[in-house]
Amino acid sequence: MSDLLPLYDSTAADTVLDHDARKAVIDRLLAARTALGNDASGSPEPGAFEPLDADFVNWPARLLEDEAELSRIERIGAEFRERADEIVLLGIGGSSMGPRALFSALCDPYHNERPREARRNAPRIYFEGDNLDNNSLVALLDRLAHITDQRWRLLVTSKSGNTIETAIALRVFLAALEARLGDAVEVAESLAVMTGADSPLREQAVALGCSNIFTLPEKIGGRFSVMTSVGLLPAAILGLDIRALLAGAAEMTRVFGEADPGDNPPLDHAATSITAEEHHGMNVRVLSVWSKALEPLGLWHDQLLAESLGKDGRGATPLTAVNTRDLHSRGQQHQDGRRDKLITNLMIDEPRNIPLVIPPRSDDTDELNRLAGRTLHEVLDAAIRGTNLAYAEDARPTADIHLPRLEEFTLGALLQMLMLAVTLEGYATGINPFGQPGVEAYKRHMHNELGR
Ligand code: PA5
Repeated sequence: MSDLLPLYDSTAADTVLDHDARKAVIDRLLAARTALGNDASGSPEPGAFEPLDADFVNWPARLLEDEAELSRIERIGAEFRERADEIVLLGIGGSSMGPRALFSALCDPYHNERPREARRNAPRIYFEGDNLDNNSLVALLDRLAHITDQRWRLLVTSKSGNTIETAIALRVFLAALEARLGDAVEVAESLAVMTGADSPLREQAVALGCSNIFTLPEKIGGRFSVMTSVGLLPAAILGLDIRALLAGAAEMTRVFGEADPGDNPPLDHAATSITAEEHHGMNVRVLSVWSKALEPLGLWHDQLLAESLGKDGRGATPLTAVNTRDLHSRGQQHQDGRRDKLITNLMIDEPRNIPLVIPPRSDDTDELNRLAGRTLHEVLDAAIRGTNLAYAEDARPTADIHLPRLEEFTLGALLQMLMLAVTLEGYATGINPFGQPGVEAYKRHMHNELGR
């Protein structure tokens, strides 16, 4: 097993959760793994679920073999990187949260503020089409209108091609692009579209003369699409190593399919989660991320869990906490509130930047000289261990996901681990993890309100 894979450790949770119950859950998960494996490999036996969007499982390995498609993503990515100073990515939900998670985890926190050479020669990136927020959209248009010496391009992602937030934003940004460039060929070249095979967005892109169109796999839903062009094209534009992302994800799928419980991060994570919920009534899942860079990944995971398992009156409630920040807000409740939470820590073992050393001061009025010479990472480590000990003393279960480093292979593996864990949980508990019938109701009412 690669030493860059995330490690899952439930030792602390195991002292709190019912041991026999967990063993029984593992037996169900092993059966569920077989069923998911059959569905993912396109077994002729009808799967249990409809819709059945299980292709994400083997997709990373498959795409790594598809040199033509990979090279096309890299080529168009390189072209956008060279020819654009700004990228506006339009999309919502699964069409936006994955690329956002990759950007935040793998790029400099001040990427958009840095000069080009300090950001891998990549464009700045902005995310829109993920809301109906007038101020945010107008502010971005205004910014783009005032940087007349810069070139900006549009990425549009919508599998259905008819999501209203994205479609309205596309109209608006397209008009701005047309007004700026005044030439249909240049507009078409400044556009890349990721969409489904039969979507109206595809028709629109074709009518505009756009040739940068990527067809999204039919059996991969939005929130499972980060390893398709949805995540990979923005990643390639940002200069990230998309082959390493895919390799990490493919390796996680291999481990998931072959490893025994105890050495199988997706299965072990699902086992702890189900046991906590079914046998201890802990139906709030806190993903406690110990890095600011991982907050968008936490929000991506919130969506993954909520849209996949929040069905038919069931499904745990996901919640992302960013620590140590949220120790000063949510911490009180997590330590002392209702016993309805399973806390999973997500931590990075080795920081990317040079470790900051706490400096000594001759006055020592803040009495911090006792820490002088220690690194910030050491203090963070003490905060993690201290928090876990405090939870353990009060019989509150915690599990840890260790990321050796924040780099492409590890991140690809982590995203795949979480997608596999959630899907496996759905299979083991009889909830179809695919599709999101519940979000149709608001859309119907909204369209009625708008008079259609
Ligand atoms: O996970 C999902 O399928 C959803 O969150 C979708 O990604 C989201 O609703 C956007 O849909 P579309 O890509 O069709 O615009």
